[in-house]
Amino acid sequence: MAIFGTRPEGIKMAPVVKELMSREDVECIFLNTAQHREMLDQVLELFEIKPDFDLNLMKDRQTPIELTSKMLVEITKVLEETNPDLVLVHGDTATTFAGAFAAFQRQIPVGHVEAGLRTEDIYSPFPEEANRQLVGRITTHHFAATETNREALLRENIRPENIYVVGNSVIDALLQVTSKVFAFEEPLKSIMESGKRTILMTTHRRENLAQLKGVYSAINRILVEHEDVQIVFPVHKNPAVRDEIAKHLNLNERTHLVEPLDYEVFAHLMKEAYLIFTDSGGIQEEAPALGKPVLVARNNTERPEGVEAGTLKLCGTDESVVYKELKELLTNPAAYEKMSGAKNPYGDGTTSEKIADIIMKKIREEKSARETVYS
Ligand code: UD1
Ligand code: UDP
Repeated sequence: MAIFGTRPEGIKMAPVVKELMSREDVECIFLNTAQHREMLDQVLELFEIKPDFDLNLMKDRQTPIELTSKMLVEITKVLEETNPDLVLVHGDTATTFAGAFAAFQRQIPVGHVEAGLRTEDIYSPFPEEANRQLVGRITTHHFAATETNREALLRENIRPENIYVVGNSVIDALLQVTSKVFAFEEPLKSIMESGKRTILMTTHRRENLAQLKGVYSAINRILVEHEDVQIVFPVHKNPAVRDEIAKHLNLNERTHLVEPLDYEVFAHLMKEAYLIFTDSGGIQEEAPALGKPVLVARNNTERPEGVEAGTLKLCGTDESVVYKELKELLTNPAAYEKMSGAKNPYGDGTTSEKIADIIMKKIREEKSARETVYS
């Protein structure tokens, strides 16, 4: 049983679930917590995946603790009904924690996709770093994207035979949507044909909410100083993010605020943008593959691979630093070129296949071990 419920989990688990569903000797069911509603539904529609169970738990301005407590109860009911051989979770959200913990309570083995990401600061990102560390403790099969992630798990005394370095399924998803012929529709078509340089921007981290004033003030200054620059900002559905935008971001004809975009559209926007400014996790993995410079509005990252590849630069949320870093990329071609080579540290798009192969093998081994005991 795959359990997920947010947009990024959907994008990265869709290829895994589809691969498992295509295998003949396994039944893969999908429990959607619907921690996100519209933002995940877009993804499920794009990848044509229907949940077997939909907990429909998204509520406006819900706290992670309210959400987690409901998820634990509701996921447990479904686990009691279905009793799967394995529960597969992804990443570090409230859904990830609740799915893994509910499975653990019933002694169902947990497979953790995107295991071993660490900043080693449990308050950053908050609450994600704690979620992934806690899930790591109760996981049986750790699907790490990179060698760095494997090493982090080994430092936490995870047994090496339970760690598999398989790349990141975000590349499977990205290749799938960018390999198709694509054309922007209005209003993005005109925006992208305007001849202006586009800063593609997203912000949503909970620990950044109180700092967004500095970030948006820097953007305001940049837009005033560079008439050939526009921002395209698909705004997260979290109303707390929207409150900060209303307070601190100056709107003009070069500030294009749009609703969350279909993944296919967003992926093509990443390709076409001049640079990306974000506090997102997933975008830090996609941008190196596309060779797109990214300024990361955070002070640390669990994705050092992109920094090492030269595509990512941490700039925090302080107004003067964000301004300086944006200015540098807009005015210094050498600095820009240095960050824009495409290097993909996250595999060749076969992560889902690898995960499915390992899961099939493990389930078979566990079944045959049980049969040996009882024969
Ligand atoms: C969650 C994850 C975060 C992940 C992010 C991806 C936790 C604790 N946080 O943060 O790790 O990076 O998703 O986007 O799990 N909302 C809608 N419609 C939607 C989605 C959200 O209206 O489709 C609104 C609701 O008012 C909701 C609020 O956004 O209460 C916040 O959503 P929530 O999932 O709790 O937290 P995120 O900040 O999105
Ligand atoms: N994304 C999308 N539409 C948007 C903005 C982002 O499809 O309008 C994709 C993006 O390409 C990435 C994922 O959503 O794959 C990242 O999700 P988010 O930033 O919400 O979460 P995080 O990765 O930080 O957990």
